[in-house]
Amino acid sequence: MDIVWIHGFPLSSAIFEEQRAIKGATHHMPDLPLGLSSMDECARWVLEHSPQKAVFAGFSMGGYIAFAIARIAPERVAGLILIDTRETADTPEAKKGRYDTIEKVKEKGTGVVVDAMLPKMLTPAASPALVEKVRAIMASRTKEGVINSLKAMAERPDSSDLLPRIKVPTLVIVGADDAVTPLADAQRMARAIPGAKLVTIPGAAHLSTMEKSEDVNRAVEEFT
Ligand code: MLT
Repeated sequence: MDIVWIHGFPLSSAIFEEQRAIKGATHHMPDLPLGLSSMDECARWVLEHSPQKAVFAGFSMGGYIAFAIARIAPERVAGLILIDTRETADTPEAKKGRYDTIEKVKEKGTGVVVDAMLPKMLTPAASPALVEKVRAIMASRTKEGVINSLKAMAERPDSSDLLPRIKVPTLVIVGADDAVTPLADAQRMARAIPGAKLVTIPGAAHLSTMEKSEDVNRAVEEFT
């Protein structure tokens, strides 16, 4: 079993470090390159760097990319793991917010995104060491990469119509305290995808793969 882990924004494959411990699978953890400014471009790039058939595990923005993969190349998808993500497009306000953020990043650098996103990633119970680790991952992202990802997220299509057509085993994982892509999003996706399994992770906010890695790993091991 091959699992391709697709990271979120403004993050890197380092968010999946602990998932390497998941047994019975070969893990592929690509780092998305800077120049990709649509979900379809991201999906094609991931497909080029993936085995012929794999389970695609997308965290947040990585989930948006996993949906694009399922649209473009369903024959390559053996299963889906949708982690703290959602199928819907941005609302007009959210889209405007992304473009406002792009202007701020151009002017002041990526620190504005780190400052805005970091408090949403982990629960208040997270250790200072973990908070620092997440901050360092975010701070390692370049201006160009951050701007392109913001554009790609703002323009991503709604994938609601895809969900009932998903024919592969699907696991939906969500941190119980996720305020970026809340439990209600995960419940809606799990209801719409035939046979999907939903696992809620207590004590995790958005970045469940890091904050509660053992619980996430158990859910994936039970699924695969
Ligand atoms: C992510 O974690 O990938 C992003 O926060 C998702 C988003 O902003 O929609």
